[in-house]
Amino acid sequence: MKRVVAEKIEDVVSESPAGVSSRKSKKAAASADEFAADTGFSRDVIDWQKQHGRHALPWQNTRDAYRVWLSEIMLQQTQVAAVIPYYARFLESFPTIQSLAAASSEQVMAHWSGLGYYSRARNLHKCAQAVVAQHGGVFPADPDLLEQLPGIGRSTAAAISAFSYGTRAAILDGNVKRVFARVFGIDRFPGEKAVENDMWLRAVALLPETGVESYTQGLMDLGATLCTRNRPACNRCPLAHRCVAFASGRTAELPVRKPKKKVPEKHATMLVIVNGDQVLLEQRPDSGIWGGLLSLPEVAPTDNDVIDFERVVAPFGTTASTARLPAFSHVFTHFKLHVTPYRIDLSRRLQIAAQHNHAWYPVRAMAEAPLPAPVKKLLLAIFREPDLLSQ
Ligand code: ADE
Repeated sequence: MKRVVAEKIEDVVSESPAGVSSRKSKKAAASADEFAADTGFSRDVIDWQKQHGRHALPWQNTRDAYRVWLSEIMLQQTQVAAVIPYYARFLESFPTIQSLAAASSEQVMAHWSGLGYYSRARNLHKCAQAVVAQHGGVFPADPDLLEQLPGIGRSTAAAISAFSYGTRAAILDGNVKRVFARVFGIDRFPGEKAVENDMWLRAVALLPETGVESYTQGLMDLGATLCTRNRPACNRCPLAHRCVAFASGRTAELPVRKPKKKVPEKHATMLVIVNGDQVLLEQRPDSGIWGGLLSLPEVAPTDNDVIDFERVVAPFGTTASTARLPAFSHVFTHFKLHVTPYRIDLSRRLQIAAQHNHAWYPVRAMAEAPLPAPVKKLLLAIFREPDLLSQ
């Protein structure tokens, strides 16, 4: 079992201070000890929560596990203000876990509609049915049992158990990870499994002996109202005096963001084939990047970087001059495209067969043409500032 407390290392079922039994793990508790429990941390959080935290949210001031559970599921990845009206409507229609379990999935989904992350609603319904069928309609107090129910992860199980039954169990949601990363100066990405595991050990080690409800709510409130991702209010934070990020001016850098994957890079050579006041454009295939748009003809990159312009241009006319233009790059979601454009002026133009996917296009109509943005930008630069780019 991974649920642990910091101060006990016997593998026993023991009474928590709130009188609720919880299983302790020998191995993990020993590791949690490595993060020497700092009782000052939880005291600061609790004192601050009592004075400055939130006390009148609709799901507070109740120990009804059904209500607590409903709010915790709705609050996963969703802000308090968005949840409040949904929570009220939900309880009006489904005042008990039995009524929710008996509802149709259409009714449940209709009440969730607009809140997003719809797997939460499907799991919510399944969870209600499981609690009725397996637990007589009463949510278990043990976080390990709660975690076996649909849609309830480790942090949510701890929050439900702490708020409903006063169980000394640790939460670790995104907001708490941010608080920990800053206070303890953790300069690795919290999404990494090893970093997350260490954070769990800290979360357990920091749990107060008593007052877990205020402490848990305090961590949530701090993360949501002071220790925000942008412009945290460190001047009002009860943890600023012990915060590594604050002391070293690194609140903007912590938590470390997800390392960016290196995007693949592609290369294209584009031809700006000009004849008088017309430029040759090509209709792109319907699939692939810029599908169906007009663009510039491209030549495939060659192994030796030598392009036989005469041969490529021959179907369209006779080359008078060729000049390389400044290269540019364009970033797509999944790759980066490096473009090397060449301007080719023709001395004589050939007719293009009607079924051909090329066409001559007047330069003056370029601004309105259905061209990809970077291609349009290139053409407008060439033709608006001819001195800059023409030969
Ligand atoms: N976010 C997750 N749980 C919450 C709660 N109980 N109150 C406020 N915000 C939360």
